Amino acid sequence: MIGERRLIVTPLSVANLVCAMSMRSLGKLASIAAVAIVTLTLTARGESRLGAAIGHAEAVTAAHGMVVAQEAIAARIGADILRRGGNAVDAAVAVGFALAVTYPRAGNIGGGGFMLIHRAAGEDTAIDYRETAPAAINDKSFLDAQGNADPQKSRDSALAIGVPGTVAGLALAEAKYGSGHFTLADLIEPAIALARDGFAVADDIADSLAADRSRLARWPSSAEIFLKPDGAMLAPGDKLVQPDLARTLEAIAKDGPPAFYEGPIAHQLAAAAQAAGGVMTADDLKAYRAVERAPIRGSYRGYDIVSMPPPSSGGIALVEMLNILEGYDLAHDAEAQTLFLMIEAMKRAYADRAWFLGDPDLVQVPIAQLTSKTYANKWRATIDPARATAAVDIRPGGTVKAEGRNTTHFSIVDRFGNAVANTYTLNFSYGVGLVAAGIGVLLNNELDDFAVKPNTPNAYGLLGFKANAPGPGKRPLSSMTPTIVLKDGMPFLVTGSPGGSLIITAVLQIVVDVIDRGMDIASAVSAPRVHDQWMPDKVFAEPGLAANLITALEARGDSVVVRRLPTSANSILVTPEGLVGAADPRTRGALAAGY
Ligand code: DON
Repeated sequence: MIGERRLIVTPLSVANLVCAMSMRSLGKLASIAAVAIVTLTLTARGESRLGAAIGHAEAVTAAHGMVVAQEAIAARIGADILRRGGNAVDAAVAVGFALAVTYPRAGNIGGGGFMLIHRAAGEDTAIDYRETAPAAINDKSFLDAQGNADPQKSRDSALAIGVPGTVAGLALAEAKYGSGHFTLADLIEPAIALARDGFAVADDIADSLAADRSRLARWPSSAEIFLKPDGAMLAPGDKLVQPDLARTLEAIAKDGPPAFYEGPIAHQLAAAAQAAGGVMTADDLKAYRAVERAPIRGSYRGYDIVSMPPPSSGGIALVEMLNILEGYDLAHDAEAQTLFLMIEAMKRAYADRAWFLGDPDLVQVPIAQLTSKTYANKWRATIDPARATAAVDIRPGGTVKAEGRNTTHFSIVDRFGNAVANTYTLNFSYGVGLVAAGIGVLLNNELDDFAVKPNTPNAYGLLGFKANAPGPGKRPLSSMTPTIVLKDGMPFLVTGSPGGSLIITAVLQIVVDVIDRGMDIASAVSAPRVHDQWMPDKVFAEPGLAANLITALEARGDSVVVRRLPTSANSILVTPEGLVGAADPRTRGALAAGY
C-alpha cells in the first residue's frame, strides 16, 4: 500500500501564476520598484511569516522509498516502480516520461534538463541532457536589425527551440544506472497508456492551460490537443488525450532514442520547427548527445553538497553562497541578520554567474576557484554586516583571476540508499507553445537562456556576457539546481526547484533552513523565501515574510519588493524516523508518494 497525501492549498496559492510570464516581468520591476515597494510592503506588513499566500506543505513519511513530484499521477507511477523493486533511477525515468504526458507545462520530451544521481555503491554522477543550439544559431541570431536583443525571437518564436535532450538523457540514465529489473519500454509504458487513453485535467494543469491559452492557441497543432472544438480551453474534468504523443512514445519504447533522433520522427520534428520559422534540422537531432559529468561538490558544516555542474550555474552558485555563509553563525544570528547575510551572498554569486559561466564544452569555467573556501573568504571580507552592498559595487569575479515556468523538479530516494534529484524544463510554461504536428511533442524555447546580447537581461532578468553568448551546438546556461546533501556519505536531503533565476536561491534557503535553523522539511519547503540576483538591485520577498524582517533589511539599505516567487521545491529529508517527503504548496497538485 502506497502512503501519500494530497496537498491542501488555500485559494490564494500561487498556482494560477504563470511562472514564465511573472518572471518576464522581473526585469521590468526595477523601473516600477518605487511604486511596488510602497504598495506591496504595506500589504505584507502585519502578516505572519507563514502567511496566507503560501499553503503549508504536509510531511509524508515512508519507510522504504519516496517520490515527490509536481503532479500526482506521475508521482504514484514512480512510487509503484520503487515498490516493485526498482531503484531511484528506474523511478526517475518512469516519472520523467509520465510527466511529459500528465504535466505538459514542464514535463517533456521536447525540452531538456539535468539528473543528479547519488549511488549507494559507486560514484555520484550528473546526467546533462540540456538542449543544444542548432548549428545555424550564432551570436546574432536573436538580435533585431539595429543589433538590439529581440525578445520576440528568443522567447516567442520557433527560432528559440533548442535540440531536445530529454529522451537521450533519460535513456542514458536508465542504461547505465537503472536496476536492470526494468527495460526502458517497461518504464515508458505508463506514459504511453496515459497519452493514448487520456486523463482528467486538474490542479495546476487546469490553472496553467487557462493562463497560457494565447501561447498555445496560435499554433493549430497545439490547439487541436489543448482546445475543445468550440475553441474553449480544456477545463477541470475534461480529458486530455494525446494520441500522436502516444505513438511517439511507443516508437521510443520499441527502438530507444534513435527512434526520436533519427528517422521519420526526427524529420517531422525538424519540419515542424522550420515550418514555424525555426532552424533546427534533422542533422541537429542526429548529432545530439546527453553528457555525463562530474557533479559539483562542496561541504557545509559537516555535510557534503552534491549539485549540478555547468551548463547549470546552480551547483557553483549554491556552493559559493554556502561557502560564504559558513563563516557566520547563522544558527544563532537573529533571523533578520541571517536573511541579510544570505542576500549579500546571493548578490556575489549571481554576479559571478553572469560573468564566468557558460557551456563547459565551449568556454573555460573556473570551477575550482569559484567553489573554493579561499575564494569565499575573499568575498566574505567585502560584506559589511551592517550595510547592504549596492549591486553596482559588486564587480563580477571581483577576486577571481580571469582565465581567459517552466520547469519541474522531482526528488526520489529508494530503499537501497540511492537518490535522484531531477529538474527538467521547456523554459516557459508549455515552452514556445508549439506541438510538432503529427508527433505530439511540445517544443521548448530554451535558447532565451543564452545572453542573446551581452549585458542584456533574459526573461528571468539575468545578465550574461561572452561565456553565455549563443553559438552553434552550444548549451545555454541554466539555473536548474538539482541537489543532494549527504551526511557521512548517505543521502540526507534531496531537493531542487523550478523558477528560472529563483531556483538557486530557493535551494540555498532549503539547505540553510534545514541545516542551520533545524526546520523540518515541510516547514522549510513552505517558508516564505527571499531572492536577490545581483541585478536588478532588489531583494524580492514572498508575501508572508514577517514585516519586521523586511524592515530590518530596508534599514540595512536593501530595497525590498514583495511579490510571489514561483518556485516549487519538492524535497525529501532522510530522518531517523524514515523518509519524509514534502511537496511544495506553491503549485496545486503536487504529491509526496512513498511506501
Ligand atoms: O534552465 C533554466 O534556468 C530555465 N530555463 C528554467 C526555467 C524555469 O525554471 C521556469 N520555471 N518556472
